[in-house]
Amino acid sequence: MRPNVLHHEDLIPIGALARRTGLAVSAIRYYEARGLVTSLRTGGNQRRFLRSDIRRLSFVLIAQKLGLGLAEIEAALATLPQGRTPTRIDWQRISRALRGQLDARIALLMRTRQKLDECIGCGCLSLERCALYNPQDRAGAKGAGPHFVLD
Ligand code: FES
Repeated sequence: MRPNVLHHEDLIPIGALARRTGLAVSAIRYYEARGLVTSLRTGGNQRRFLRSDIRRLSFVLIAQKLGLGLAEIEAALATLPQGRTPTRIDWQRISRALRGQLDARIALLMRTRQKLDECIGCGCLSLERCALYNPQDRAGAKGAGPHFVLD
């Protein structure tokens, strides 16, 4: 449901939303079909979005860059109120909900940055340092995968 009182400047056409977010109009239509944003229709059946939908779609762009899947993004956005501009408190709720996932990704990025030119415990034993860090592929006892990065 949309708010009862909307000012003209609160509403923007799909082209303006596309220009400001950098998304193609077709991508916005796709996100709308998935329920990530909702439009109103004018008397002439043209879509109008809330100006605050720029932030919703910007969140989608950021979350995708961070490696979150569309299902996770949909679940997070579903907690935002429909029909009114989300407040800072609404966004804080999403931020808290995603903090654990973001912290895990940050930790993975940091381990990758630290380790990518070192032995990653993958079983290849192809670097001189593997003999030091992973002699006889001891990391392989833990099962498959590059244990020094992903564990
Ligand atoms: S890099 Fe593969 S085991 Fe060391």
